[in-house]
Amino acid sequence: VLDAQRAQEIIDAHLALEGPLLPILHAFVEEFGFVDDTAVPLIANALNLSRAEVHGVLTFYHDFRREPAGKHVLKICRAEACQARGSESVARHCLADLGVDWHGTTQDGAITVEPVYCLGLCANGPSALFDDEPIAALTADKLVSVIEEAES
Ligand code: FES
Repeated sequence: VLDAQRAQEIIDAHLALEGPLLPILHAFVEEFGFVDDTAVPLIANALNLSRAEVHGVLTFYHDFRREPAGKHVLKICRAEACQARGSESVARHCLADLGVDWHGTTQDGAITVEPVYCLGLCANGPSALFDDEPIAALTADKLVSVIEEAES
């Protein structure tokens, strides 16, 4: 899956940094959309780390997607102000309707759901982003129409 040459270029470009692991992982997500498992030994090798160490960091931070995202990405805010506006129960509904958990992708590959922590739209929460378009006052019903619109 991985373009090994490009992967190596990304790694090399970050080697001079102090603490290059996180910047390398971010760069992989930026370039490929996710960090393929085959990148782990390449990174470990270059940084003189064990594969387990790289894998540990990769799995600790959910920001580092490990498989391709769905066609659309829904991010639901789980920060405090949105929680006070009921975001957790709305999120539970949305996740149940889509049949996924946080970070999961629907079976048809259409939607990946991820948490986000404050979008700066607190007054209109629960807030979400659908493919980077903000959604105010999210409800499960509203999500259905947003998805329908995106798919039409
Ligand atoms: Fe959700 Fe700020 S807390 S947008």
